[in-house]
Amino acid sequence: MQSPIDTLTITRPDDWHLHLRDGAVLDSVVADTARQFARAIIMPNLRPPVTTTELAHAYRDRIYSALERAGLSTTSFTPLMTLYLTDNTSADEVVRASKSGFVHGIKLYPAGATTNSDAGVTDLLGKCVPALEAMQATGMPLLVHGEVTDPEIDLFDREAIFIDRIMIPLRRAFPALKVVFEHLTTSDGVDYVREAAGPVAATITAHHLLYNRNALFQGGMRPHWYCLPVLKRERHRLALLQAASSGSGRFFLGTDSAPHAKGLKENACGCAGCYTALHAMELYATAFDSVGSLDKLEAFASLNGPAFYGLPVNQGTLTLNREAYTIPAELPMADTTVVPLAGGESLGWKVAL
Ligand code: DOR
Ligand code: ZN
Repeated sequence: MQSPIDTLTITRPDDWHLHLRDGAVLDSVVADTARQFARAIIMPNLRPPVTTTELAHAYRDRIYSALERAGLSTTSFTPLMTLYLTDNTSADEVVRASKSGFVHGIKLYPAGATTNSDAGVTDLLGKCVPALEAMQATGMPLLVHGEVTDPEIDLFDREAIFIDRIMIPLRRAFPALKVVFEHLTTSDGVDYVREAAGPVAATITAHHLLYNRNALFQGGMRPHWYCLPVLKRERHRLALLQAASSGSGRFFLGTDSAPHAKGLKENACGCAGCYTALHAMELYATAFDSVGSLDKLEAFASLNGPAFYGLPVNQGTLTLNREAYTIPAELPMADTTVVPLAGGESLGWKVAL
């Protein structure tokens, strides 16, 4: 019998979907990410949202300052900035972003779909055609929060309906547009991304690989497992795990780590978002190990993303050891507290220091 792998060394990974936030918590959040990842695609849903190249430049400076305050070198981590698409994003702004060299994607939040999405798009193929044309022409990827916001549609069906109502018409109109279907959560999404013609890929979170929707209600309501798109049925989790470990270059790592203060999650109307930046690679290793696919983790975490974005693969490595690791129950951050996903529980993998 083959002995299990106890140490895994992979090319240093990247996080292709991350919420770093801003202000006082930024120092802690960026430090947690930079400990594991060389680069990350930084989501633009701040208040106010990052809608221009100029705002992205200023945000990038704040991220580098936070890295320095956390005692980390500014060469150890590269934030890959994004813009927030609105009904008014101009073709000129897309061209400016493309020429900047530091903006790597433009994010579509359907208005009202999730945290800080009120300024999002109300009618993609009606209002955003000039921006989409410029993105297709310049090779700027569209990063998609793939859920319809129609209140008539059941929360658990919003991704599947988005494919029919938005994704298929979008890609028919812009067949050469690079599209990343962010935080995929369903087998419908997996089937679409696997089979679609043209430059389409998807990110998958660790929490959607590890948990199904029962996790939200196990022994009571558990707000720290609440994110958007919400966790789905077990058959969807299994399809995601199969896709992530299939070796297909279309699927890659994106944590969607999204911290909220403890009191805003443990609340009558709790915020959506799971904080996983602290222990992301331990969570992904646990998921891949559960299906005997640790040998596929490097492609998913470190190779497929750079290939899709046209960026070089990182130089360094990251080592994971099979050892008991208890996730901290709470993390102090500036004047607040964040509860990491599965805080207080144990995992069987730990990133080597
Ligand atoms: O759970 C989520 N949290 N999903 C999102 O799309 C946004 C994110 C956040 O910013 O908190
Ligand atoms: Zn997100």
